[in-house]
Amino acid sequence: MKLSKIAIIGSGTMGQGIAQWFAQQDVIVELVDVKKEFVEKALINIFSSWERLLKKGKFSQSQIDQFKENITLKNINEIDPQIDLVIEAIIEDINVKKQVFKELDSICNESTIFASNTSSIPITEISNELPITRQENFIGIHFFNPAPIMKLVEIIIGANSSSELGKEVAKWFDQHNKVSAICKDRPGFIVNRVARNFYGEPLRIVGDYDQAKIQNVDQVLKLVGGFKMGPFELMDLIGIDVNYMVTESVYKAFDKNPRFEPHPLQKEMVDKKRLGKKSGKGFYDYE
Ligand code: NAI
Repeated sequence: MKLSKIAIIGSGTMGQGIAQWFAQQDVIVELVDVKKEFVEKALINIFSSWERLLKKGKFSQSQIDQFKENITLKNINEIDPQIDLVIEAIIEDINVKKQVFKELDSICNESTIFASNTSSIPITEISNELPITRQENFIGIHFFNPAPIMKLVEIIIGANSSSELGKEVAKWFDQHNKVSAICKDRPGFIVNRVARNFYGEPLRIVGDYDQAKIQNVDQVLKLVGGFKMGPFELMDLIGIDVNYMVTESVYKAFDKNPRFEPHPLQKEMVDKKRLGKKSGKGFYDYE
């Protein structure tokens, strides 16, 4: 399989990380968002990340110059219909995702692989209103945050996806220094399903917002469990709103099984706009 040119829809936390990583693999990336200023901000973030990597000696100046050329900013209706792959990384809302794929269906060639970076929504549900040939060419490609660094990529095969395609894409990632895991199309796939309890139990232990207790739980899990980040630090990195939506989505998809029930503190944090690192305040303060 050859991936020469791709499009990424959504230039938030994940879209920019995914764009950065693909550009580093010498793949041409068309980056799309709803507003020009969003993609421009994403590009600034990607460029400053490369500046840091240059200073650390991870890449040379000529490599960085090439990576920069690999990314272009587009509106959705300007993307090249001939692209090999489109990855959607927008808000975790099935109706908005479906709408975006409907639009992409009218733009892209039949051979373009369609992929969603959804954390939790079964990809069969996202794709089920598309023509059947599109559904065959539709898979989940689930990156982890930060996408340029995290090795794992979950490849999700939906009920109508071609499993051959899934295997080929998985092989492509394995050849590009990622580690793929092919997953069944079950809510939360592998990591996010298991991770519900990594967040849920600590939230139940802490109960209310109390930074001392939060810090304590994070420290214990890092020291004793060997985790690189504690659950509260990780929720702050992921975005408490994003994490809450994933929890809601997995809970609903498992018929409100109490094992997956969201904790009231998650909603409270979202309502107070304490969304984590991206908003400057979450379980910890970053300002
Ligand atoms: P984010 O909120 O940081 O970014 C979403 C971006 O999509 C925003 O820039 C927004 O303007 C844009 N957007 C919304 N509707 C759009 C549309 N119709 N067309 C084009 N752009 C649109 O969200 P984040 O965290 O990047 O998450 C994106 C997806 O990736 C979600 O499905 C999430 O579940 C998944 N994900 C998130 C992870 C994380 O750690 N944040 C990890 C792995 C997957």
